[in-house]
Amino acid sequence: MRTREATWRDLSAMARLEAACFPHDAWSEATFWSELAERPHRSYWVATDGGGPEEPLVGYAGVSTVDDVAEVMTLAVDPGRRGCGLGARLLDLLHARAHDAGSTAVLLEVRADNEAARALYGTRGYRVAHTRRGYYRSAGGGPAVDALVMRKELV
Ligand SMILES: CC(C)(COP(=O)(O)OP(=O)(O)OC[C@H]1O[C@@H](n2cnc3c(N)ncnc32)[C@H](O)[C@@H]1OP(=O)(O)O)[C@@H](O)C(=O)NCCC(=O)NCCS
Repeated sequence: MRTREATWRDLSAMARLEAACFPHDAWSEATFWSELAERPHRSYWVATDGGGPEEPLVGYAGVSTVDDVAEVMTLAVDPGRRGCGLGARLLDLLHARAHDAGSTAVLLEVRADNEAARALYGTRGYRVAHTRRGYYRSAGGGPAVDALVMRKELV
């Protein structure tokens, strides 16, 4: 498993993995293009099964470092590759990038019913800063789901 900074060539694979990981509210490839265009204030990382340009993408993550408080923009791991530490590894890369950019803390937003992501963020020192009640609509007209804004100090 290798990690490296994302390039323009990765964007269609990132969009495909995004659709598999976020079936109800996936970012489009165009959104990933606009995100990468914001570099150096955005930093996107990918994980691949090997080092070559054709190696399959198995995860990606991005962080915004516009402000003193950085923001995790997205994080996803291929469903077949979860539970092996890859999500934590990508998150650590975002923290290192934010620290290098001078950020003192990181924020992110997560669905309250996303237990895997909440557990991961908890192990990495995030705590709930506040709750946005009923922020996410559910598929099929189910009850709305809260968004948790979580924060981690970097210093
Ligand atoms: C959230 C996600 C990125 C985690 O990736 P992952 O590679 O499976 O996570 P890791 O293997 O690095 O797990 C790190 C820690 O998170 C926790 N964790 C991960 N998956 C978990 C699960 N399904 N249930 C409970 N805890 C879990 C564990 O504490 C784990 O530590 P451990 O290995 O010591 O037990 C992955 O589930 C995913 O892509 N989900 C869909 C997209 C998504 O929801 N992204 C986050 C949006 S805010």
